[in-house]
Amino acid sequence: MTDTDWHYSREKLAKEYMDEFIRYGCRALAIFSERQVGKTEFLTRDLAPEAIRRKHYPVYVDIWSARADPARAIANTLKGHALALQKSGRLGLRELSLTAGLFSMGAKLDDLDKDRDAHEPAETVDRLGYWASRLAKATRRRGVLLMLDEAQSLAASRNALNEISALRAAFQMNPGKFAPVFTGSSRVRLEQLFNDSNAPLFKYGDEVEFPSLDAGFVNYVLSLARKLSNLRLDPKGALAVFEALGHRPGEFIGLVRSMMRAGISNFAAGLAKKLLADQERARVAVQMYGLTELERLVLRRIAGWGDPFSAEALDWYGTQSGPGARTPTKSAVQWALRTLRNRLLIESDSQTGRFRVGDERLEHALSGPEPLKADG
Ligand SMILES: Nc1ncnc2c1ncn2[C@@H]1O[C@H](COP(=O)(O)OP(=O)(O)OP(=O)(O)O)[C@@H](O)[C@H]1O
Ligand SMILES: [Mg+2]
Repeated sequence: MTDTDWHYSREKLAKEYMDEFIRYGCRALAIFSERQVGKTEFLTRDLAPEAIRRKHYPVYVDIWSARADPARAIANTLKGHALALQKSGRLGLRELSLTAGLFSMGAKLDDLDKDRDAHEPAETVDRLGYWASRLAKATRRRGVLLMLDEAQSLAASRNALNEISALRAAFQMNPGKFAPVFTGSSRVRLEQLFNDSNAPLFKYGDEVEFPSLDAGFVNYVLSLARKLSNLRLDPKGALAVFEALGHRPGEFIGLVRSMMRAGISNFAAGLAKKLLADQERARVAVQMYGLTELERLVLRRIAGWGDPFSAEALDWYGTQSGPGARTPTKSAVQWALRTLRNRLLIESDSQTGRFRVGDERLEHALSGPEPLKADG
């Protein structure tokens, strides 16, 4: 346990988002941001408490970790909360949501569909609607803030269209009850959910940008650091460094901690040291995979959602492999894919057969504007 809470509260933003539902009648919010800028922490530490203050019951589902079967995870989470609410008698709302667990309840979730309730339907899509309505009843006059974190993974499931339709139907069956918040760190894929005219959620939600933390956060961290250490951190350049780190609060806090440990008070020096260490870590991580040049290139291609076998892809492998390198054959690419699959670096969608990188962090690192170079 620690007494130090680095969390910088974002109450004002949480109020604005709840106002969208409560005052302006928004049906759903789709919140996009880059990775690691604080979406999950905002949902659980700022938005959920604000929801409770505004008479809403908060429910959180991490769709990314449930990506094998997101609809089942949502149905089971709704069920867990509905049953917990039913059992809890006269507990206050705050205790209730903590009892049920804001986070999808881990292993317990698995048992929730084995242990079937008397009227519970068998099919996942039907269960989703059934438990949404049961939870709607159990919360009585409260609304339900339904937070679907990393929601873009919803679109990747085999039965995605039916599942997302069931979700939408559940909201519509209980008008004014659900305040759904979808977050995503892939703009393209989040937009597929809301902007694709064939998508069940077409034009259903309002897209909002997730604002980055600013000088207030930097000052908060500096003041906490001042309390914790004798070292006088020089605030000059702190904000610029936070910006250089892509407004990622965890990275900035990590940097401040490492500066305190190393006795470095100057931010430019602290950043330089951190970047060197990061570069080394990335190099080691990539080396660790022990991949050949072609395997690395195919991995990058898949991270960018490209067809690994197209003529253009084959040319690209050739040009990337350096001067004098030959264009690889399709069967060489096939072998590379097999290795990547065996190492669980990629997976294929069982219906479309399309490949994707298994780990979203890795995917992002490989496909970002400055992809992680795989040269060992
Ligand atoms: N308001 C905040 N105050 C202090 N630290 C924060 C804040 N928000 C986020 N962080 C820290 O920043 C890091 C990333 O936050 P978080 O996981 O919420 O980001 P994310 O946008 O959900 O990332 P991802 O896209 O990878 O899921 C974590 O270490 C978290 O503790
Ligand atoms: Mg997150």
